[in-house]
Amino acid sequence: MSVFERRDGDLCLEGLALNRLADDFGTPCYVYSRAAIEQAYLQYAEALGSHPGKICYAVKANSNIAVLQVLAQLGSGFDIVSEGELRRVLLAGGDPAKVIFSGVGKTRDEMAFALDCGIACFNVESAAELELLSAVATECNAVAPVSLRVNPDVDAQTHPYISTGLKENKFGIDINTALEVYQRAASLPGIEVLGVDCHIGSQLTESQPFFDALERLLLLIDELADKGIVIEHLDLGGGIGVRYRDETPPSIQQHIDTIKARLGDRKLALMFEPGRSIVANAGALLTEVLFLKPTEHKNFAIVDAAMNDNIRPSLYQAWQAVEPLRAAEHAETLHWDLVGPICETGDFIAKDRELALEPGQRLALMSSGAYGFVMSSNYNSRPRVAEVLVDGDQAHLIRARETFDDIVRGEALLPLSEGQ
Ligand code: LLP
Repeated sequence: MSVFERRDGDLCLEGLALNRLADDFGTPCYVYSRAAIEQAYLQYAEALGSHPGKICYAVKANSNIAVLQVLAQLGSGFDIVSEGELRRVLLAGGDPAKVIFSGVGKTRDEMAFALDCGIACFNVESAAELELLSAVATECNAVAPVSLRVNPDVDAQTHPYISTGLKENKFGIDINTALEVYQRAASLPGIEVLGVDCHIGSQLTESQPFFDALERLLLLIDELADKGIVIEHLDLGGGIGVRYRDETPPSIQQHIDTIKARLGDRKLALMFEPGRSIVANAGALLTEVLFLKPTEHKNFAIVDAAMNDNIRPSLYQAWQAVEPLRAAEHAETLHWDLVGPICETGDFIAKDRELALEPGQRLALMSSGAYGFVMSSNYNSRPRVAEVLVDGDQAHLIRARETFDDIVRGEALLPLSEGQ
């Protein structure tokens, strides 16, 4: 069920017309539905059911503290990749005991901070990281709960930039050397081996690559058991892909049921780190047409949102649907490229869309809740946009649009030399 719905010609989110939100908060602006975020999280939580384990929302997908708060209130765990993300979780009221820490480049300070907070697990990505974590934990008089992120060398069949489980990717520990690294982990002070994890990529719209990875991880777990290393949890990384256009991802229930069934009689808790599938289709980016520029070759609609606001189309050739907030009254339907004000040919948010457009027309770039705002920047000295969370017929401003002062905060002029 979509929380976006057209009522009397107006595209609405939950109980509110998006045009009204655009009037109140301006454009460009990200809008999110609380109900959609909750529904998506609950699909995972319910699919896991009473099986031991955790759903740890991947904060990187959308790290606004109000979004994290909504999830924390449902009891969600969190997958973080930096101290900043951990601090966001704490601000939002999240439980550090439900936090897992992923990422290839954790620093000494980040490790010490996370240990001090009492997080649930470090997903360690290399032998070198393991040695440092042991040293830091020993210095802090702490024991670091650890899972090794194994690279199972499976093809996730997704965009190469978001494929992470192949030998040639920088992520994880080669599955062929994992046994050795586990034995080292078991012998190190300050380390407690708890789990095995992998993350093979994002926007996977089929379960098979996950199942292939699972088989390899289960073999490893059995081998470890033979050597006396008991694994308590298995973490299969990110969630399944979402429907942007015509993708047909499997249901979360089906996906998790199959995984549970494949565990056989092994007593393993299950962890998942879904990001995109919790928030992508809960959000949209609202934008307004500034100018129409039909040319002999192409029709360009210059809109006020640009690649700095949502880089996904430019970076991954991502396709996201475009919906008018209200149909144009007098325009004819043509093919349009929606481009932003940034001085780059790669600055577009949608290409070749059949739309009836007029200047001032407002549009929604759909499925923008994940990897949208979080990847935005101040390129071309454009302020980062507002974020609004809709809850029934209430709209909450959860991030104010940046001002020019925000943009230059922290910059400094050089001291003037005499005579200048
Ligand atoms: N766990 C780890 C270790 C990850 O690296 C990621 C995503 C996730 C979980 C969450 O995966 P998800 O459930 O969202 O598929 N910016 C790109 C996506 C980058 C994904 C990075 N890692 C995009 O916009 O498509």
